[in-house]
Amino acid sequence: MGLKPATNPDVESATIELTIDGKTVTAKDGVSLYDVISSTGKIIPAMCYHYTFDPFGSCGMCLVMQEGKKAPVRSCTAKATAGMIIRTEGDDLFQARKKAVEKHLSVHPLDCPVCDADGHCELQDMAFQHGVTNLANAKQKFIPEDTRSPVLDFNMNRCIACAECINVCKDVLMIDALQFMKKGGFNQVVAKGDLPLACEFCGDCLAVCPVGAITNKFSKYLYKPWQMKKTTTTCNYCGDGCQMYLETKDTEVIRVTSPLSWKNKWGDRADTSKGHGGLCVKGRFGFEYIDSPKRLTRPLLRKGNQLVEVPWLEAMHAVVDRFTDVRKKHGPDAIGGLITARCTNEELYLFQKLMRVAFRTNNLDSSARYGHLNFVRASKLALGIGRTPNDWEDLTKAKAVLVIGSNLTETNPLTSVRIKEAIRVYKAQVMVFDSSVTNLGKLGSHPHLIKAGSEGLVIDGLVKAALELDLVDEESVKKHPQAFAALKSAVSAISLEQVAAKTGVTVGQFKDAATVLAESPRSIILCAEGIVRQPDGYQNVLKLIDLAWITGKLGRPGCGVNTVTEEPNEQGAVDMGVAPEFLPGLASFDDQAMRDKLAKAWDVTLPAAGTGANLTDILKRCRSGQIRALYVVGENPLATLPASMEVRAALDRLELLVVQDPFLTETGQMAHVLLPATTSAEKDGTFTNLEGRVLRVRQAMDALGESVPDWQILTALANGLGCQWEYESANDIQAEIMKLLPGYYNLGQPKKLIPSADHYLSNGYTAAASSRYKTTRSESARPFTLLMGQLLYHSGKLSTVAPGLIKIGPNTGRIRMNPADMERLGLQDGATVKLTSDRGSLQMGVQVDQSVAPNTCFFPEHFNEPPVKDLMSVHVDAITGVPSFKRSGVTIEKV
Ligand code: SF4
Ligand code: SF4
Ligand code: SF4
Ligand code: FES
Repeated sequence: MGLKPATNPDVESATIELTIDGKTVTAKDGVSLYDVISSTGKIIPAMCYHYTFDPFGSCGMCLVMQEGKKAPVRSCTAKATAGMIIRTEGDDLFQARKKAVEKHLSVHPLDCPVCDADGHCELQDMAFQHGVTNLANAKQKFIPEDTRSPVLDFNMNRCIACAECINVCKDVLMIDALQFMKKGGFNQVVAKGDLPLACEFCGDCLAVCPVGAITNKFSKYLYKPWQMKKTTTTCNYCGDGCQMYLETKDTEVIRVTSPLSWKNKWGDRADTSKGHGGLCVKGRFGFEYIDSPKRLTRPLLRKGNQLVEVPWLEAMHAVVDRFTDVRKKHGPDAIGGLITARCTNEELYLFQKLMRVAFRTNNLDSSARYGHLNFVRASKLALGIGRTPNDWEDLTKAKAVLVIGSNLTETNPLTSVRIKEAIRVYKAQVMVFDSSVTNLGKLGSHPHLIKAGSEGLVIDGLVKAALELDLVDEESVKKHPQAFAALKSAVSAISLEQVAAKTGVTVGQFKDAATVLAESPRSIILCAEGIVRQPDGYQNVLKLIDLAWITGKLGRPGCGVNTVTEEPNEQGAVDMGVAPEFLPGLASFDDQAMRDKLAKAWDVTLPAAGTGANLTDILKRCRSGQIRALYVVGENPLATLPASMEVRAALDRLELLVVQDPFLTETGQMAHVLLPATTSAEKDGTFTNLEGRVLRVRQAMDALGESVPDWQILTALANGLGCQWEYESANDIQAEIMKLLPGYYNLGQPKKLIPSADHYLSNGYTAAASSRYKTTRSESARPFTLLMGQLLYHSGKLSTVAPGLIKIGPNTGRIRMNPADMERLGLQDGATVKLTSDRGSLQMGVQVDQSVAPNTCFFPEHFNEPPVKDLMSVHVDAITGVPSFKRSGVTIEKV
């Protein structure tokens, strides 16, 4: 469906005048008349209209009278033209709309008492509003319900054929999984080809369905809408930070709904650049971990070989006494701490304060170390900002987007929807460089399937192509002639032909991509797991910054180098100072001014400058016996890191392992004390999303069992250790953070950061650049590259305790391979193979996957059965300490 100017905010068209209900209004020529009417604040009924997609014109409710026409006009599909005279009210229009409602009701089952949409149904509302009381002509359809999908049931007896579901899926999400099909004498919505629904399961079709024709399998027959408490909060899965409504009954989560809804249909299309209000499968259907029976509900204390339930008081006494004991005997640096970036900002802040103030150590880290810190460190060094410079609006309105090393639809689905809107509405050229066939690659203008592990070389090729074609922005480079000369000299030995041979990208493709990037007025570079979680991630981000610099894409509005975060609060973890190299506010740990400020505010002497250990160093020190006690909040290093990191040996040597988590994890099973924490649904606080927006997390229900929010446990522990913390709510902690970091709580608006590379380019750049473009990494001699990564249906390990997501995306336990490779090795789907890396061998099944590139194989990182992660080698970045373990050379043999 081509977008009309009506719904495309980027199209230039003449301004016209028309008259609506006697008032002159201005509009863009050719826009939907309905949009013009609603822009005046007037709401007229519209059952098939939603501002996020093109008008469809099926329901017959949006009728208006146009002077010169005898019959009413459907205003949604009518285009505004100069001089139109429109009337939106009157008995004739009321009666015409009433007739439309009666027509819909005449083929509607009227099973409201057993319909999930009862009380939340546009057809009910319209019938009431138009005084439809005589339903004598109602005819039943008796269409069997389609229950084949794992999450949605289609009851086509209730369908009013408005096509909102089809349109949102096709237009907004660009998935196009649904269609109308004539079946049993009725036009029905079916999954494409009338097969069982196989889609992204985002549930946006459910959200926009104005009646109960699409229902949520998880909550069907469980509630009436008015029985539930609805809490607006932030999703706890990825860094996109989607807003959602958690709907609960007592301590049970019934369902998750989104701001996207048929009830919220009168917005302005231009507003969707900030997000369309939908959710992905994880956000909408992944909520069952919250009230899972697997939750840890009482503290556990190790007695002999057993973990035994004990009262909180006993557990906390044990924790305080044993930590105190270790500190007395071995000093503060015998203690370390790890925390998950699924905690709130307030908890992350308290955690680093506890480590530094109560324990007096700088041995602390968060899950941002698994990759995000490569981006933060590079962007802080080069641009002074330490986070992404662009928000969703910039991304949506970009004219060129270079996506490198990111399977964005799988990792950050709603950021991916922004790029889809950039493609569809703003006509962006999207260049994708990835070692798998990605969804954005299929939709983008320039898809490039690159050799696994060649992302760094691809950047070399782009920089080289930009220089060879003289796509250089004079204004940007002339300020730093020495740096520019150094960069030119650093890449002088690179040959595009050689890079092409090593990456799988042709010289022409490099030149095209560099040209599109350089010549577009708003160009965004986005890199993710294929860069920041891989060896040389830090240097590769710096190279992308070089590329943006020379092409004039640093600091210009709507341009910049960006990343995405896997967990909801990785940016918050870094901003709150949960890293040995950073204090709160991304100040260096050695920054004397900030140290003085904090020492005064906290009334302590901070651990000495230059001290501290990050994740890998903490584990090393546990193994060597330097660290004797470890405090692990929500992290699960045993299940995350490969065997070669020797996590078990590290934890085994500890005198004290305290694990605080909503679940009994693999790491928790080794603990001496386990403290039951709540999930984010049971506490207040904030997350900072990948755009830098601080978003509210709100308590939706009482804590399960005896679990307690992390911030309360941290406060109790600090007080047990002799501090006098008086926080009684997350607000109290926020008040303290606000004093230290004025402006951090930016009321949901990302603070615009203006990156400047001036200091970096004139201080030490010359020496650093010369080594950055020398490839020294040797490639594995093994014929296949094993990649571990995320799936759309999962996030870390958390989603694996959400039964709904496991139902949609179960662990098949099989390695995924390209069909051509399987054929070459004589493998059928389901055959057993032996996978051998330098770290060992495994036997496992194999499954066909078209998205896996030739000579690679893929296993989802969420699952450890079989333990594929233990085949991976680890490379620790010498500067950032980020451990990379998602790629390894392997041999595959038929068994
Ligand atoms: S769940 Fe999402 S992807 Fe699937 S049909 Fe509905 S809108 Fe389309
Ligand atoms: S299923 Fe719902 S959204 Fe889709 S056409 Fe029918 S009534 Fe409209
Ligand atoms: S995109 Fe991310 S934040 Fe949004 S609903 Fe999905 S997992 Fe949650
Ligand atoms: S809203 Fe215009 S026909 Fe349905």
